Amino acid sequence: MKVVEHIKSPIQKEMELFEQKFKESMISNVPLLNRITHFIIRRKGKQMRPMFVFLVAKMVSNGNFKEKTYRGAALIELIHTGSLVHDDVVDDSNQRRGFFSINALWKNKIAVLVGDYLFSKSLLLSIDHDDFDLLKLVSIALKEITEGELLQIEKARQLDITEAIYFEIIRQKTATLIAACCGIGAASVEAPKEEIQRMRKFGELIGIAFQIKDDLFDYTEEKIGKPTGIDIKERKMTLPLIYTLNNSSSKEKRWLVNSVKNRNKDKKRVKEVIAFVKQNGGIEYTVSKMNEYKVKALEILDQYPDSEYKNSLIEMVNYVIDRKI
Ligand code: IPE
Ligand code: IPE
Ligand code: MG
Ligand code: MG
Repeated sequence: MKVVEHIKSPIQKEMELFEQKFKESMISNVPLLNRITHFIIRRKGKQMRPMFVFLVAKMVSNGNFKEKTYRGAALIELIHTGSLVHDDVVDDSNQRRGFFSINALWKNKIAVLVGDYLFSKSLLLSIDHDDFDLLKLVSIALKEITEGELLQIEKARQLDITEAIYFEIIRQKTATLIAACCGIGAASVEAPKEEIQRMRKFGELIGIAFQIKDDLFDYTEEKIGKPTGIDIKERKMTLPLIYTLNNSSSKEKRWLVNSVKNRNKDKKRVKEVIAFVKQNGGIEYTVSKMNEYKVKALEILDQYPDSEYKNSLIEMVNYVIDRKI
């Protein structure tokens, strides 16, 4: 059995029901919107966030949950999908999930509005059912995603990113939503406050590892369903490059910064920068940092008694690090 199928086995039924509810959550009277949301549903992603919601809810409640957990999973996937639609506009990226992005097919104007629509549907899904505790958790995440994306843009302009700022950016733009997944999983089964916070922390740690993995993909030429090798082109300095910069001579540093600043559209120069990072331990350092976060996330799971849900969460943590897409 494939790893992901194995992880999903204790939540198979729930994931199938979720897909149905997720689809229903997007219905509109506007034909153009329905065509686009159909397209989104057909080209679904890995669905890791709903998996986190269900697995945490099951681990915390010993397998007992109701409709609220389904709404929590749909809420999260709506926000995730909307943020990807907007992100591809922001990053001017024409590929997503192995196919054209929404902006590539329908242009920016429509992509911005589709993203807004998905956000508004997620708000209504919570409000209509009085899920204000879930809404609060997800609203924190959406606010931080926006701040993280903007902080990243500011640092790409000024090229003054440090390791600490890199971690703050990825915590905000990516980890906060995975923290919300795990928090919502716990909140949806009425877990106590401390447990919701503990699960948020777990999600944040694994979310940081998740984005580090995503940034490592950019240094490869693997087929992951979206462009690679574009971070430097976008002047986005991620951990492999930040580490390399901090451990280079001042001459090398000038060459690196000048490459990112003025030669970032020059494919040959970008390849040289990537090669330099690889030769100078940038990848090894980044992998070791990613593993530190993984270990801290697993330590939180250690506090729970053994169950098939906990096992799946452990496998999920490992999958975040080992995945091929
Ligand atoms: C992509 O997330 C956005 C990042 C935070 C890197 P995923 O890799 O989970 O996207 P899908 O949903 O599987 O396409
Ligand atoms: C991921 O941003 C976080 C959000 C979608 C807000 P990236 O720009 O790094 O992710 P990909 O590589 O496009 O998925
Ligand atoms: Mg992007
Ligand atoms: Mg981006």
